[in-house]
Amino acid sequence: MSDQHTLRLFGNTMQDIELAALLLKQGKLVAFPTETVYGLGASAFNPEALRKVFEAKGRPADNPLIAHISSIDELELLSDDVSDDARKLAEAFFPGPLTIVLPAKSTVPKEATGGLDTIAVRMPNHPIALSLLSMSGPLCAPSANVSGRPSPTNVYHVLEDLDGKIDAILDGGQCTVGIESTVVRLIPTPMILRPGMISAEQIEKVLGKPVGIVQKHEHAIQSPGMKYRHYSPKALLHLCGTHEEFELFSRRLPQAMKISGHVTTQFGDIFPLKESTYYDILRSADIKGVKDIIILFTEEERIQKPALFNRIEKALSKE
Ligand code: TXA
Ligand code: MG
Repeated sequence: MSDQHTLRLFGNTMQDIELAALLLKQGKLVAFPTETVYGLGASAFNPEALRKVFEAKGRPADNPLIAHISSIDELELLSDDVSDDARKLAEAFFPGPLTIVLPAKSTVPKEATGGLDTIAVRMPNHPIALSLLSMSGPLCAPSANVSGRPSPTNVYHVLEDLDGKIDAILDGGQCTVGIESTVVRLIPTPMILRPGMISAEQIEKVLGKPVGIVQKHEHAIQSPGMKYRHYSPKALLHLCGTHEEFELFSRRLPQAMKISGHVTTQFGDIFPLKESTYYDILRSADIKGVKDIIILFTEEERIQKPALFNRIEKALSKE
């Protein structure tokens, strides 16, 4: 799949959404917007289309995909065993940035599950995605980036990585959340496998029981995708926990790009540290040829923004 024309479609016209759904039903790959990041869609029950997703992204075959649905009823298409807990979470958070890991139905292709006996499912909170999914049926959609790169939050990001490698892209403007969904498993006990904007506390409140958060060293065992280095720009990231450290690095690396949640102009342009613009800033650093990025992320902020901290930690990881 290379050197083909990637058709540009627009999510503000019904004809284009219909054409995108038709292409997906024919086994083609179409990138589409969600509230979190753009997904690279392929029909969830078409093994050949799913294999093309792995090829286009350069994604390791053991990293399972997330199935996207347009209604809670469609959970039954993917799992025979939707527990009361799963249903409670779906009712509370669908559509929204939560992915639930369920026992997979035998009809779900192994390409979707990465060979596991579970399937991750979410219902995105985006009108274009929901309209597309209601016509195409369930779609597996990893983030529409080349594996390891920051996730795409607009069509330019998708085209940067995948132009000529996928059949079409449906433009839906800027993603509002900006980082990927929370991934939660429920069996044997509730556990967050990837933090996102829906927090452990919110999930605990709905389930009425404690929810664990998978620790760094357990990532490889619990969620295959989490063992890989991820979300990385070409520049070297320098993570600082205090203002003093940030000042020190800023003096030592005067050409560096700086990202901080604290407004200060003392050291030149400082980009804001927040989920909705984080990946865009990393990609803009690559375009500008920035060699170093200094991030100020205090202990207090790390507790307030665990999902963003997780993405930064993964980008720093040597794996
Ligand atoms: O917000 C999102 O979730 C975006 C948009 C496009 O929906 N999608 C996304 O997909 O981030 P992807 O493929 O980049 O990340 C999927 C994550 C990986 O960490 C993977 O290991 C985990 O979900 N995952 C998928 N299926 C799983 C399963 N059966 N058990 C455990 N983890 C699973
Ligand atoms: Mg991804």
